[in-house]
Formats: sequence, C-alpha cells, structure tokens
Amino acid sequence: MADSPSWDPEQYAVFGDHRTRPFLDLIAQIRPESPPSRVLDLGCGTGNQTEILADRWPEADVVGLDSSAEMLRTAERRSRPGLRFELGDINTADVSEADVVVSNAALQWVPEHRRLLGEWAESMRPGSWLAVQVPGNFDAPSHRIMRELAAEEPFAGPLRGVLRHEDAVDTSNAYLLNLASHGFIVDAWETTYSHVLQGENPVVDWVRGTGLRPVLESLRPEMRAEFETEYARRVRAAYPPADVGTVFEFRRIFFVGRKRPSTA
Ligand SMILES: C[S@@+](CC[C@H](N)C(=O)[O-])C[C@H]1O[C@@H](n2cnc3c(N)ncnc32)[C@H](O)[C@@H]1O
Repeated sequence: MADSPSWDPEQYAVFGDHRTRPFLDLIAQIRPESPPSRVLDLGCGTGNQTEILADRWPEADVVGLDSSAEMLRTAERRSRPGLRFELGDINTADVSEADVVVSNAALQWVPEHRRLLGEWAESMRPGSWLAVQVPGNFDAPSHRIMRELAAEEPFAGPLRGVLRHEDAVDTSNAYLLNLASHGFIVDAWETTYSHVLQGENPVVDWVRGTGLRPVLESLRPEMRAEFETEYARRVRAAYPPADVGTVFEFRRIFFVGRKRPSTA
C-alpha cells in the first residue's frame, strides 16, 4: 500500500462543498461520444463524488476504489445498483476495462503515480478517458509552515521523512506530455481557487482532514498538542480573517485525456 495516512471521513467532509468544486470542474471536461459502460473512481474516499459519476451515467457500472476502510465504510452507504465500492490499492488497480477513469485529489498520495499513469495509458482502451486532479499547493503557507515547523526541535526527529514536498506532484505540462507520449489527446490546466471559509481557524481545520494527518499520527500525544498549537498560531497569522471569512487560496492541477481511437 502507498504511504497514505489513515482517514477520518467526518473531518474530510467538513469542507465538502469546497472540495467538490474542483471535481465538478474536472469531470465537465470528460465528454464521451456515447455513455460509458464502466467508470472507475480511484481513491474515491467517502464516495460522494463517485455518486456524482453514477448520477451522470446511470446506465454505467461505476466502481469507487479506496485503500481506507474508514472512508469506504462511509462510501458503502451510497451503494446501489450500478454503484459499488471496493477496498483496493491504486498501485495495483486494473484500468484496462474502463471507459472512464477518474482520480480526484488522491494521486498525490501515490509516489509511483507518474509511472502508473504511463502504464494505465498503455493498457486503457482506445477512445477511453482518464481525468485526474491533484493539489498543487505544496508551496502555499499552509504547507510551508507545516514543513518549517516539522524541521524544528523537538519535532525534527519524529517527523523526518514524514512530509511530502512539492515534487509529490508534477506540473500540468509534465502530465500532459506524459499522457500524450502514450497516445492520449490531453487537456491540462491549473486553477487557483479562493475558498472563503468560516470558523475560528478554518485553514487548520481543512488541513486536519488531509495533509496534517500523517504529521500528527507520527507524534506522541503530548508533542502532537504542542505541534498543533504552534502550527495553528502560525497559520492564523498567515491567513488573517477578512470581513467575508478567511480566504484560503488553493492551486490545483488538472488533466483530462482521451486515448486516440486505434483507427486514427
Ligand atoms: C483526499 S482523499 C480524496 C477522496 C475523493 N477522491 C475526493 O476527492 O473527495 C484521498 C483518498 O485517496 C485514498 N488513497 C490514498 N492512497 C491510496 C492508494 N494507494 N490506493 C487507494 N486509495 C488511496 C485515501 O484513502 C483517500 O480516501
């Protein structure tokens, strides 16, 4: 399995609407000529987005795959004819039968995903679609502060090697060239969302659902509290509240490709 932390479905759902927006922007660019029969959502999490895929293509067999039993327990409540969920690892996923493969906000947890993309592209059917979104915010204050603090004492020892860096993902251009070299016609782009969040220190609450998890899990309880307090203080200073709320800028990287039909 990849080095993904354990997940808390409730915490992840706190900013659900904000997290769904990039997914909707992603799948808007999947435009098959005929409705797909098999749709795969890799790293489906709580499955709310997999359900959106099933609503869009009601005749399709839609499968959400995730390695987190906690996330899947929530996802499975959405199961219905045509929509099911499987426990599994993205690293060993078989995409060869799918007409549409989607992965939203998951491949940044899979260090081998660049190689996997090439393998998937080779094994996918002519005419099939691959749509991926990954965060491109590893240089944002929310993550930079986490890295800086993790490099300071007394955290440096227990947190050595725990945090991912900006090389966890590629640029949109690099993804485009990767897939294009395997016979895909690719549309790649980046978007920075300005999420307006409410709450006392909402950026910390957001990150608590994702990037902060492996850090806290690697610390003993007393050190965990110390890290959280100092991290929250620095993040609050970096994201001061405005009249409308706290604006959290979040850059994301998208690419959607269609495998060239074999006759082309
Ligand atoms: C940030 S969540 C995104 C969930 C969903 N796609 C969404 O956008 O709401 C990342 C998900 O990827 C899953 N994940 C990470 N590494 C994985 C792997 N190697 N195999 C399967 N799932 C993985 C995690 O368990 C988690 O549910």
